[in-house]
Amino acid sequence: MKVTVFGIGYVGLVQAAVLASVGHNVICVDIDQAKVDNLKKGLIPIYEPGLTPLVEETYKNGLLSFTTDAKAGVEHGEVQFIAVGTPPDEDGSADLKYVLAVAKTIATHMNEPKIIIDKSTVPVGTADKVTAKIASVLAERNIDLEFNVVSNPEFLKEGAAVSDCKKPDRIVIGTDNEAVRETMRELYAPFNRNHERMIFMDVRSAELTKYAANCMLATKISFMNEMSNLAELLGADIEAVRHGIGSDSRIGYQFIYPGCGYGGSCFPKDVQALVQTANKVNYKPALLEAVESVNYKQKQKLFTHLSNHFNGKLAGKTIAIWGLSFKPQTDDMREAPARELMEALWQVKANVQAYDPEAMEECQRIYGSRSDLILSGTKEAALKNADALVICTEWSQFKAPDFDIIAEQLNNKVLIDGRNLFEPSLMKKKSFTYYAIGRGDSVKITK
Ligand SMILES: NC(=O)c1ccc[n+]([C@@H]2O[C@H](COP(=O)([O-])OP(=O)(O)OC[C@H]3O[C@@H](n4cnc5c(N)ncnc54)[C@H](O)[C@@H]3O)[C@@H](O)[C@H]2O)c1
Repeated sequence: MKVTVFGIGYVGLVQAAVLASVGHNVICVDIDQAKVDNLKKGLIPIYEPGLTPLVEETYKNGLLSFTTDAKAGVEHGEVQFIAVGTPPDEDGSADLKYVLAVAKTIATHMNEPKIIIDKSTVPVGTADKVTAKIASVLAERNIDLEFNVVSNPEFLKEGAAVSDCKKPDRIVIGTDNEAVRETMRELYAPFNRNHERMIFMDVRSAELTKYAANCMLATKISFMNEMSNLAELLGADIEAVRHGIGSDSRIGYQFIYPGCGYGGSCFPKDVQALVQTANKVNYKPALLEAVESVNYKQKQKLFTHLSNHFNGKLAGKTIAIWGLSFKPQTDDMREAPARELMEALWQVKANVQAYDPEAMEECQRIYGSRSDLILSGTKEAALKNADALVICTEWSQFKAPDFDIIAEQLNNKVLIDGRNLFEPSLMKKKSFTYYAIGRGDSVKITK
């Protein structure tokens, strides 16, 4: 099938490469000329396991190509994916300007019927707006062409995006048009062989499904973080509680890790956007507001530990940070807890020495060169003469470090663990002052 994907980001690029890998002929269109040029040279703009070989292979065999030529893109695809960003507006609503710009582009250049697929995460009612935009441009052009707008939200997880796309838990399709349903079945047939993964519904329900999924996951995290705060105050250990509740199959072990707050390009903005959607229909989403406010406070926790430990005297101190990306296996730093921490440290004139296995370039891109940020080549180098170590991301290589090296390199044996990677008893044995999340009176183990 001939497919066009607008937006070569985390979602668009992965989706395009995976579709090309099963034989579809995919053109990716982006407005970012440098990104397109780099991709043509084999430079992949993001770190995502398995993505580079997939892009290389499909680009080489001609099934995947990249362009900024929107007209050529529109002419190519029988189906046209919209996979551009939907960042938060000033009030937290999803900003649809990129989505509607693509709708306009498609309408400007289409000369035959098209199926337009909303892959971006968009508020309920967006398919209607995309439909209206296309209809108005076609009317201006004075031509009458059939088109259908489908909602097909993406559920991939960064860090496992390729495998999620190849073996999706579900493929949600919002449409009430039978012919469109058939085309979508054909498009996704290679991913639907093992068992039925396609779930058809009306457009609005599909749009809401995406927000409901992300908000549910964010709720689980904020719930556990709230429990962890209670555990600290009550002298309980959240890790014991986690095992205790996870064993209930109605709850399960997945996604109930306490930590230093959720980040990334999706949960924060999607919770906010659903709150705004609710407000617009005069509904007060009390639970969602609480999820967001718990997360906001949780992201300040690491700084609070540091500030308390050093009695508010952080100016001139150097803090080592392990982990910059919002989660392991990605270089994405959007809304990452590490950013909150670094920015708070800089406010009080502290210095940061940071290490991340994949996100160093991204960090450099975001913050540029500054005297209070050193990006260290190894996790050990980041420790050198630092006054404390803070772990923000649970990369595997941080899970069993050499504590003797940590102790040797740091000025003070202070470890703040935003991901509960270590056993408090071990930390005590090694004489660290160890702060974890929700681990009762072991929160501050030794001094
Ligand atoms: N990142 C995720 O894990 C994830 C998962 C599921 C859903 N989503 C949703 O998917 C959408 C895209 O997210 P992303 O993380 O891939 O975004 P991204 O910011 O990584 O990429 C968006 C791309 O769209 C391009 N673009 C903007 N306007 C364009 C236009 N008019 N024509 C062509 N290209 C244009 C940008 O240059 C950029 O390359 C968002 O709505 C997001 O919420 C993201």
